[in-house]
Amino acid sequence: FAQSNGSVTVTGVSDHIISKHIYGQFAEHLGRGIYDGFWVDKNLPVKKQDRIRLDVVEALKKIKIPNLRWPGGCFADEYHWRDGIGPRLQRPKMVNTNWGGITEDNSFGTHEFLALCKLLNTEPYIAGNVGSGTVEEMSKWIEYLNSNSTSTVANMRKQNGHPEPYKVTFWGVGNESWGCGGEMTPDYYVNQFKRYASFAKNYPGASLKKIASGANSDDYNWTEVCMKNIPNSMMWGLSMHYYTIPTGNWNKKGSATSFDEKEYFNTMVNCFKMEELVTKHSAIMDKYDPAKKVALAVDEWGIWTDPEPGTNPGFLYQQNSLRDALIAASTLNIFNNHSDRVRMAELAQTVNVLQALILTEKTKMILTPTYHVFDMYKVHQNAKYLNIALNSPNYEVDGKSLKAVNVSASQDAAGKIHLSLVNIDMNKTVTISTELKGLQWKTVTGQILTSANITDVNTFSQPSKITLRNFTGAKQENGKLVVTLPAKSVVTLELN
Ligand code: AHR
Repeated sequence: FAQSNGSVTVTGVSDHIISKHIYGQFAEHLGRGIYDGFWVDKNLPVKKQDRIRLDVVEALKKIKIPNLRWPGGCFADEYHWRDGIGPRLQRPKMVNTNWGGITEDNSFGTHEFLALCKLLNTEPYIAGNVGSGTVEEMSKWIEYLNSNSTSTVANMRKQNGHPEPYKVTFWGVGNESWGCGGEMTPDYYVNQFKRYASFAKNYPGASLKKIASGANSDDYNWTEVCMKNIPNSMMWGLSMHYYTIPTGNWNKKGSATSFDEKEYFNTMVNCFKMEELVTKHSAIMDKYDPAKKVALAVDEWGIWTDPEPGTNPGFLYQQNSLRDALIAASTLNIFNNHSDRVRMAELAQTVNVLQALILTEKTKMILTPTYHVFDMYKVHQNAKYLNIALNSPNYEVDGKSLKAVNVSASQDAAGKIHLSLVNIDMNKTVTISTELKGLQWKTVTGQILTSANITDVNTFSQPSKITLRNFTGAKQENGKLVVTLPAKSVVTLELN
């Protein structure tokens, strides 16, 4: 086998943790994400609570998803929360104009979402409607959710079956306000943010963490204008959205399952753009907020391909290959390595939409390669970030090159060290010699995710083609940890 060498040095323990909220998820009223994903027909013969599918809940609980963003996306800016409360049969129907023009019956609303979060043991992150809603509407939604006082709106929540306040704290003030959220300029949005945020009140035990609608990819001016004009004290976070498009062309994104090495390489080039984005957005934030009080929240990310042939193009249903796993792992390494500023992120979009963790078909459910990456990486949640220096060989295709290996590391509360390494090279094994300065360890164990082909996927007939296996390619040699990373693989090691 072709092979090359590199090295990793863990240089010490940093002064911050990797926020668990980097491992967040996003679920929009889009395609088969909510309806037919989480919330299924009452006659579907699977275990359910109300209409919430419990096999999906159990799988997500296992990977400890820390937060769930809802109801959109673009849908958030046409969602009116009052339509989604009260007796289900009486709820108004609307057309989901962004996603397939289908009828939204509002059977999954505020109480259903919060019941789902409770089952998942995850924190809700609600995106409020700025685009087509009013300040009053957003303000009353928060009162409905969080107030324990006697007011008409708070009483409505009690009458609808939830006497206690929900205490929702993560609050998005609009979504993509530069685009589907209202086509605003950054200056206009800043003023809107201030109006909406002023009336988004804190209630006892529910101090809001307001997240401003941030930049589209490399729109650095958006970040600059928001940071300059919104006081740091007014926002907990500023968002940024970036999707990896295999071809780089939004009109013909590329297939999820059929691609050659050149397209794979190009996809990884586009994936690593995230490194440049978080570096440059963080640098702008540093200018106005040197103490790093405001979080950079990458609240939509992932690979976006052409939809699966034969599916509704407005539903954004795509398969998930080993390539997706390498994208997820590499992106999470980027977030971990920027965790001083990136303190929240949400993968788009959990079930049956875009880079999903789970795909369902009637009673069947499969875990995607991306799911397994989140399973491996959960050890980094709230662990102390470890500083690292990496020396990686190159992965070259057609005279262009990328670093073959990327890595991140942390130390958990019990003192265990975890290293996550990705080898994106499709052809070469890489041997990494690792030194851990000032950190003690005796034993090493690990897990690996790989497969024979970069295009391999899990299917309903072969659900475990790509799954986690024990990794035996790490050993101690002359005081160093030597790791042999197979081509196109993700490895997480635990050092005790
Ligand atoms: O995730 C799909 C869509 O992508 C979201 O609705 C929107 O915010 C973004 O453009």
